Amino acid sequence: MYNETVMDHFTNPRNVGVLEDASVVAETASPECGDLTKIYLKIIDNRIVDIRFQTLGCAAAIASSSMATELVKGKTLEEAWALTKDDVVGALGGLPEPKIHCSVLAEDAIHKAINQYRIDQGLLPW
Ligand code: FES
Repeated sequence: MYNETVMDHFTNPRNVGVLEDASVVAETASPECGDLTKIYLKIIDNRIVDIRFQTLGCAAAIASSSMATELVKGKTLEEAWALTKDDVVGALGGLPEPKIHCSVLAEDAIHKAINQYRIDQGLLPW
């Protein structure tokens, strides 16, 4: 059902856990299944210098969260904001059609965290 890259990120997820000194934390739930992803961002000079995630969800959600964190680590907030679920699915080499919605969780949580950070800085959300 899942390709090798997805299985790799599911069985050996990158950036998993809690970031004690996070600049911002955000959580999203999937409207389809109720699964959860929490994202921790450490931001310095407009750049994501560190990131962690916790996902209560299926294999595709965990693999997508792992890949999404890899894709935005080291990026500016503008670059991270431009991340789409298609980028995540593409980097994973594809997901089975019924699992595409699982790839949205991490992207949504990253967007929510970036906007919360902007609000905390007195800026308008994107
Ligand atoms: Fe819920 Fe995949 S089934 S995130």
